[in-house]
Amino acid sequence: MFHTLPAPKPDAILAVMQLFREDPRDRKVDLGVGVYKDAQGRTPVMRAVKAAEARLVETQDTKGYVALTGDAAYNEAMADLLLGGVVPASRIAASAATGGTGAVRMAMELIRAANPAAQVWISTPTWPNHNVLANAVGLTQQSYRYYDAAEGVLDRQGMLDDLAQAKPGDVVLLHGCCHNPTGADPREADWAEIAALIEAKGLIPFVDIAYQGFGEGLDADAAGLRHLVARLPRVIIAASAAKNFGLYRERAGICLVTCPEEERALVTGTLATINRASVSFPPDHGARVVSTILTDPALRLDWQEELEAMRQRVQGLRGALAQALRAETGSDRFGFLAAQRGMFSVLDVSPEQIARLRDEAGVYIVPGGRMNMAGLTEDSVPAVASALAGVLADRG
Ligand code: LMR
Repeated sequence: MFHTLPAPKPDAILAVMQLFREDPRDRKVDLGVGVYKDAQGRTPVMRAVKAAEARLVETQDTKGYVALTGDAAYNEAMADLLLGGVVPASRIAASAATGGTGAVRMAMELIRAANPAAQVWISTPTWPNHNVLANAVGLTQQSYRYYDAAEGVLDRQGMLDDLAQAKPGDVVLLHGCCHNPTGADPREADWAEIAALIEAKGLIPFVDIAYQGFGEGLDADAAGLRHLVARLPRVIIAASAAKNFGLYRERAGICLVTCPEEERALVTGTLATINRASVSFPPDHGARVVSTILTDPALRLDWQEELEAMRQRVQGLRGALAQALRAETGSDRFGFLAAQRGMFSVLDVSPEQIARLRDEAGVYIVPGGRMNMAGLTEDSVPAVASALAGVLADRG
């Protein structure tokens, strides 16, 4: 029977991760998959995570099942981290999820269960798995313009014009911060305009926030999300603790829904049902590490300090690369790299140029031109700048 299976489509990001692993060269630079790396090129286990895990080893006395929507302490702590208390707990439905991807999937299943006719409006470009997940769930997709490549900023007018075509009940998928792949985020006034359009047209915002703390800081990165939640009756949220807690492989995510109080039990029950039909109980270890950190003032402070240092380091690497490219090219056309936020930026490169970067310089970036700035190190910046300048100079 299996010979009838269609050939699986390779995932663009994970294919780059694999190619990089297989490259035997010493001088190679992975700017593909979105993970943070330190000056030695390692993805560290954060100090507070180590401490919380040690505490769990000492004190945890059971690995028995928790609940279909996960541990309430984790759900509360994450809701607080993301929403900062702008809505009462009585308006928040929550379920722990299998990473940020699991949270997006859960949210999309919820959308389909609530309104199968809803179209999901997705930015162009976006994290490619958004499209894959919407397809897998069977949701109709529409795309909206997002990025002004000439200026390296949000295409505010293009976005608003396209979303003006949405029908009441349609869902607008937004990146909470550190837009993946462009690194261009809405400013405060843009969020207010987006919220006003969503409100006027009766749309439902769906915010995917996977990089809180990597843009401007923990609270600043959630400001757009909090604006929406404070203003609108319903917001769907998928969040990840993979990046800001460095818990990638533990798959700690959460699906939150803010809604009128009287809808909360129904939404929570539906999230539980979705889990039962897929994973039953969401994974607990990463979630428990997160709640241990967030509910212990000393661990929380240490985590915040380490995350802030990581954020500043990535921002510093952005500045260093932009400066090295200015020196290499004698132009400011890469200045946007320093102005953007989070792990990613997009370069205007052809597939051939991407292949040359890989083959000639051992620099790996994702198809479409996405670079993970957190994959740079202080040592690799000059070589990466020189490779980029060399390859991009030939674009004719
Ligand atoms: C990325 O965009 O590189 C990360 O979110 C990892 C992934 O799953 O694609």
